[in-house]
Amino acid sequence: MTSTQRYLVQGGKPVSGRIRCLGAKNFATKAMVAALLAEGTTRLLNAPRIGDVEITRKLLAASGAKLDWSGDSDLAIDASTIRSCDVPVPDSGSNRIPILLLGVLLHRIGEAHVPVVAGCNIGARPVDFHLTAAKMFGAEIEVAPDGYRARRSGPLKACHYRLPYPSVGATESCLYLGVLAKGTSIIEGVAIEPEIMALITMLNTMGARVQLKPNRELIIEGVDRLYPTTYDVLGDRIEAASWAALAAATDGEITVDGIDPATLINFFGPFNSVGGGVSIEGPRSIKFFRRHPLRSIVLETDVFPGFATDWQQPFAVMLTQASGISIIHETVYERRFGYLEALSALGAKTQIETHCLGSVPCRFRGRDFPHSAIVRGPTELRSDGITLDVPDLRAGLAYVMAAALAKGETTITSVQRIERGYGELAVRTKGLSLPLQAF
Ligand code: EPZ
Repeated sequence: MTSTQRYLVQGGKPVSGRIRCLGAKNFATKAMVAALLAEGTTRLLNAPRIGDVEITRKLLAASGAKLDWSGDSDLAIDASTIRSCDVPVPDSGSNRIPILLLGVLLHRIGEAHVPVVAGCNIGARPVDFHLTAAKMFGAEIEVAPDGYRARRSGPLKACHYRLPYPSVGATESCLYLGVLAKGTSIIEGVAIEPEIMALITMLNTMGARVQLKPNRELIIEGVDRLYPTTYDVLGDRIEAASWAALAAATDGEITVDGIDPATLINFFGPFNSVGGGVSIEGPRSIKFFRRHPLRSIVLETDVFPGFATDWQQPFAVMLTQASGISIIHETVYERRFGYLEALSALGAKTQIETHCLGSVPCRFRGRDFPHSAIVRGPTELRSDGITLDVPDLRAGLAYVMAAALAKGETTITSVQRIERGYGELAVRTKGLSLPLQAF
């Protein structure tokens, strides 16, 4: 992995060109965990060689799995030799994978010791749904000072559980727990993001019996064993949307390869409303540009099929170039606007509100969380040598976009947080007219 610490970006010009988006981090890492459910070697194609995959590789290797890369993106995971139930603290100190290993190790070893770790700093990010799910499937959970200790006596048993919120991670935990449990489980209120659809499909190719019913309900008929598979990682819809927003924001033209347009279904509408343009160039190849002068929009993030919370940051950067007052109501995470301060340092006119500025029923209503934002535009962004320190992955790419928009030179530090999800940007953006140097 790279030892890059900072980027230097000379902005102010339209960004155009071509880039291939990586395999989706938020599926690849979950597919790696799923591979542990079957003895034998599972192969992932189009797996991204990024920090979070490397962190997950080390966590799986600590349990005894053997992982080998061939070529750039073909990852073989041999899970025949799983023996340790102790999940170490990830190198980065934060990552959501350890809690997902709980169900898998319970099945394979009968026990799991999982450290308490956060993800990106965007909200409290508790794991209560994961723990309740494990208990519903019959696991005993003990809270220890260093994490959670789970064990089972006998096989895990099917259950009927209604998730309090369609959490992506908790849905994944229920899938891992349910596929090898005895009996048929019903899980209500599940997340249905494209990465979850891919995980269900992958598990079914391993011999699982999972059906998604209407109204967010999963029926999981437990089986005695699963078999290794070969599975292609879908393209990263968050990355694709970021390049789209960069093209429209700078009035450039960016062709993104390796992305299925269907995974951007509810991105295109708001993108087009703001003034973006889209042209399908070939299978999994989309050109993004500015079709009209950009204009403001009212936007609310939501679980899929709503507008993704991970699209919110690149979109906000684009909205600094739109005329009028744009409003964003973030309903998934309670503190995901910290990055706006950095945009303001570059001249963006933004304001954060604790009120719900929208109509989507929101868990944060009346709770004083800074979860709504106002962006006034258009504003010319400028940087006279400003340094921005990256707080989290998605905000990090938004900083790169803002730096590309801003006239002058911007330094971006703590870029290892960006590279955890996007790889070496200086290398990957060679096909774009993005003046970014890495140090
Ligand atoms: C996944 O996080 C993604 N991460 C996130 O992307 C993404 O933003 C999020 O899903 C929503 O789409 C990965 O896949 C690794 P959640 P996850 O459980 O699964 C609350 C990125 O940059 N909640 O759907 O952790 C939680 O606090 C990241 O790639 C509980 O209250 O998200 C949040 O408000 C950022 N208790 C909401 O649910 C729980 O036990 C949604 O979280 C679990 C979640």
